[in-house]
Amino acid sequence: MNTRRRTVLAAGAAALGTGCGSSGDGNGSTAPKTPQPSGTSDGELARTSDVPAGGGMILRDRKVVVTQPTAGEFRAFSAVCTHAGCVVAAVTDGTIDCACHGSRFSIEDGAVENGPATRPLPAERITVEGDSIRLG
Ligand code: FES
Repeated sequence: MNTRRRTVLAAGAAALGTGCGSSGDGNGSTAPKTPQPSGTSDGELARTSDVPAGGGMILRDRKVVVTQPTAGEFRAFSAVCTHAGCVVAAVTDGTIDCACHGSRFSIEDGAVENGPATRPLPAERITVEGDSIRLG
Protein backbone atom coordinates (compact mmCIF):
# COMPACT_ATOMS: atom_id res chain seq x y z
CA MET A 1 0.00 0.00 0.00
CA ASN A 2 2.71 2.41 0.97
CA THR A 3 5.01 1.64 -1.90
CA ARG A 4 2.35 2.21 -4.48
CA ARG A 5 1.66 5.63 -3.11
CA ARG A 6 5.35 6.60 -3.17
CA THR A 7 5.62 5.67 -6.78
CA VAL A 8 2.70 7.86 -7.70
CA LEU A 9 4.04 10.82 -5.77
CA ALA A 10 7.47 10.55 -7.33
CA ALA A 11 6.00 10.48 -10.79
CA GLY A 12 3.89 13.49 -9.97
CA ALA A 13 6.85 15.50 -8.75
CA ALA A 14 8.84 14.75 -11.87
CA ALA A 15 5.99 15.82 -14.05
CA LEU A 16 5.73 19.16 -12.28
CA GLY A 17 9.39 19.93 -12.91
CA THR A 18 9.88 23.46 -14.15
CA GLY A 19 6.43 24.27 -15.34
CA CYS A 20 6.54 27.82 -14.01
CA GLY A 21 6.91 30.50 -16.63
CA SER A 22 6.07 34.16 -16.49
CA SER A 23 3.80 34.61 -19.40
CA GLY A 24 1.85 37.83 -19.53
CA ASP A 25 1.44 40.34 -16.74
CA GLY A 26 -2.15 41.15 -17.59
CA ASN A 27 -2.79 44.61 -18.99
CA GLY A 28 -2.32 45.81 -22.50
CA SER A 29 -4.52 43.73 -24.72
CA THR A 30 -5.90 46.61 -26.77
CA ALA A 31 -3.40 49.45 -26.91
CA PRO A 32 -0.60 49.19 -29.43
CA LYS A 33 2.63 50.71 -28.21
CA THR A 34 3.70 52.49 -31.33
CA PRO A 35 2.09 55.84 -32.01
CA GLN A 36 0.34 56.24 -35.32
CA PRO A 37 2.73 57.86 -37.77
CA SER A 38 0.05 58.99 -40.19
CA GLY A 39 -1.50 62.37 -39.56
CA THR A 40 -1.26 62.58 -35.80
CA SER A 41 2.48 62.97 -35.32
CA ASP A 42 4.34 66.15 -34.30
CA GLY A 43 2.20 67.04 -31.35
CA GLU A 44 -1.25 66.74 -32.82
CA LEU A 45 -3.67 65.42 -30.26
CA ALA A 46 -6.83 65.18 -32.26
CA ARG A 47 -8.92 66.66 -35.00
CA THR A 48 -11.61 69.10 -33.99
CA SER A 49 -14.15 66.87 -35.71
CA ASP A 50 -13.17 64.00 -33.39
CA VAL A 51 -14.28 65.91 -30.30
CA PRO A 52 -18.05 66.08 -29.87
CA ALA A 53 -19.56 69.44 -28.90
CA GLY A 54 -20.76 69.27 -25.32
CA GLY A 55 -18.50 66.29 -24.75
CA GLY A 56 -14.94 65.21 -25.23
CA MET A 57 -12.54 62.46 -26.06
CA ILE A 58 -9.93 60.69 -23.99
CA LEU A 59 -6.48 60.09 -25.42
CA ARG A 60 -5.37 57.30 -23.14
CA ASP A 61 -1.87 56.96 -24.55
CA ARG A 62 -1.24 60.69 -24.03
CA LYS A 63 -3.15 60.77 -20.75
CA VAL A 64 -5.02 63.81 -21.95
CA VAL A 65 -8.72 64.49 -22.32
CA VAL A 66 -9.84 67.05 -24.90
CA THR A 67 -13.26 68.61 -24.48
CA GLN A 68 -15.53 70.98 -26.39
CA PRO A 69 -17.81 72.52 -23.74
CA THR A 70 -19.42 74.80 -26.30
CA ALA A 71 -19.21 74.60 -30.06
CA GLY A 72 -15.84 75.78 -31.33
CA GLU A 73 -14.25 76.07 -27.89
CA PHE A 74 -11.76 73.40 -26.96
CA ARG A 75 -10.13 72.58 -23.63
CA ALA A 76 -7.73 69.94 -22.49
CA PHE A 77 -7.00 68.41 -19.12
CA SER A 78 -4.88 65.72 -17.64
CA ALA A 79 -6.73 62.42 -17.96
CA VAL A 80 -5.20 61.15 -14.71
CA CYS A 81 -7.80 61.22 -11.95
CA THR A 82 -6.67 63.32 -9.01
CA HIS A 83 -8.17 60.86 -6.56
CA ALA A 84 -5.95 57.83 -6.96
CA GLY A 85 -4.41 58.08 -10.38
CA CYS A 86 -6.66 56.07 -12.68
CA VAL A 87 -6.97 57.28 -16.24
CA VAL A 88 -10.49 58.62 -16.63
CA ALA A 89 -12.83 56.33 -18.51
CA ALA A 90 -15.49 58.35 -20.31
CA VAL A 91 -16.95 61.75 -21.07
CA THR A 92 -20.70 61.80 -20.54
CA ASP A 93 -23.34 64.43 -19.83
CA GLY A 94 -20.87 67.28 -19.43
CA THR A 95 -18.50 65.46 -17.15
CA ILE A 96 -15.26 63.55 -17.39
CA ASP A 97 -15.84 60.34 -15.49
CA CYS A 98 -13.44 58.12 -13.61
CA ALA A 99 -14.61 54.53 -13.38
CA CYS A 100 -12.39 53.58 -10.47
CA HIS A 101 -14.36 55.22 -7.66
CA GLY A 102 -16.88 57.41 -9.43
CA SER A 103 -15.28 60.84 -9.50
CA ARG A 104 -16.57 63.22 -12.15
CA PHE A 105 -15.00 66.42 -13.42
CA SER A 106 -16.42 69.32 -15.42
CA ILE A 107 -15.59 69.39 -19.13
CA GLU A 108 -15.39 73.19 -18.85
CA ASP A 109 -12.69 73.63 -16.25
CA GLY A 110 -11.88 70.22 -14.83
CA ALA A 111 -13.53 71.08 -11.52
CA VAL A 112 -14.75 68.25 -9.32
CA GLU A 113 -18.46 67.63 -9.87
CA ASN A 114 -18.54 64.45 -7.86
CA GLY A 115 -16.10 62.93 -5.38
CA PRO A 116 -14.23 61.21 -3.93
CA ALA A 117 -11.68 63.35 -5.80
CA THR A 118 -11.19 66.75 -4.20
CA ARG A 119 -8.85 68.41 -6.68
CA PRO A 120 -9.67 69.42 -10.24
CA LEU A 121 -8.06 67.85 -13.26
CA PRO A 122 -5.10 70.07 -14.20
CA ALA A 123 -5.58 71.94 -17.46
CA GLU A 124 -3.29 71.20 -20.38
CA ARG A 125 -2.35 73.94 -22.78
CA ILE A 126 -3.53 73.36 -26.34
CA THR A 127 -3.53 75.20 -29.62
CA VAL A 128 -6.17 74.80 -32.28
CA GLU A 129 -4.95 75.37 -35.83
CA GLY A 130 -7.58 74.82 -38.44
CA ASP A 131 -9.01 71.45 -37.60
CA SER A 132 -5.96 70.29 -35.72
CA ILE A 133 -5.63 70.33 -31.93
CA ARG A 134 -2.08 70.30 -30.61
CA LEU A 135 -0.52 70.32 -27.20
CA GLY A 136 1.26 73.51 -26.27
S1 FES B 1 -9.02 57.11 -8.98
FE1 FES B 1 -10.61 58.20 -9.96
S2 FES B 1 -12.22 58.14 -8.53
FE2 FES B 1 -10.63 57.11 -7.51
